[in-house]
Amino acid sequence: MILVFGSINMDLVAAVTAIPRPGETVLSPGYRTLFGGKGANQAVAAARMGSDVTMVGRVGQDGFGEACRANLAANGVGTDHIVAGTAPTGCAFITVDAAGENAITVASGANAAVEGSDVPASLLGPQTLAVMQMEIPLAASLAAATRVRNAGGRVIWNLAPAPADLGAAELRALLATTDILVVNEIEALMAAKALGGATDFKAAARRLAREGNTICVVTAGASGAFFSTPDGETRHVPAVPVSPVDTTGAGDTFVGVLASELARRGELALRSTLDAALGRACAAASMACLATGAQAGMPTRPQLDAWQPR
Ligand code: RIB
Repeated sequence: MILVFGSINMDLVAAVTAIPRPGETVLSPGYRTLFGGKGANQAVAAARMGSDVTMVGRVGQDGFGEACRANLAANGVGTDHIVAGTAPTGCAFITVDAAGENAITVASGANAAVEGSDVPASLLGPQTLAVMQMEIPLAASLAAATRVRNAGGRVIWNLAPAPADLGAAELRALLATTDILVVNEIEALMAAKALGGATDFKAAARRLAREGNTICVVTAGASGAFFSTPDGETRHVPAVPVSPVDTTGAGDTFVGVLASELARRGELALRSTLDAALGRACAAASMACLATGAQAGMPTRPQLDAWQPR
């Protein structure tokens, strides 16, 4: 069973010619209201692969919250443990430029009230593969991850978005609960900085893997993904090249599909398992870039199986 513990947002998405610089105003013909939140996106990505997925998080007692919950359920994600609190549902303000790149501001709302105790004991056990991100309070995620590990489960931690002020003690505590860390190139360098720094993202991944005694996966966009193991091995999995329409949610698709593939294959740390799972995650992330919105382009398992990129 995959337990996604994280954020649930409604995304307000505007297409722009160029993302505004500080102090600048740009015009967009309109905006779309789309389902998002890193946690919810990862849950949907894993569920579309056919995995048994339960989401734990918080929404507000408002229309966005109801719609987000209904969307998760419609995608096959278990929603019984989503709490409707007093704060409004999280909202992300997203601009997407002509090259498919984005800039995102998240108004956390209900996500900021999530607590580690929101995860019921009934979801914990050796079969639990938990997926964490960084859009809810870190203390809550650390508490939940510790409970997952104490019950014999495993944890994939996506360090996104990486906080600029992440301290060494916090990072070490996070790594101590982590079986697989997933970061992008920038997050890898930011995290390694908390441990003393690294010259490039590959060196950062090696440092994080060694010092955290964990597997560190780095997503590198069009260059694919790399993973480093605690014993210093680094491997590369190529991306599937596409012309992106919108890269929003590509990283979440990667994490959700990775979790699904690892849960299906069982043994997380096997090199062959990782190679295969990361190949599927890279392909799914490329597919996700072919539609506007975080979840619109996420493939189902049959769609991923059948995909023949040009
Ligand atoms: O990773 C993409 C997501 O980040 C968006 O869906 C938005 O909600 C923000 O959380």
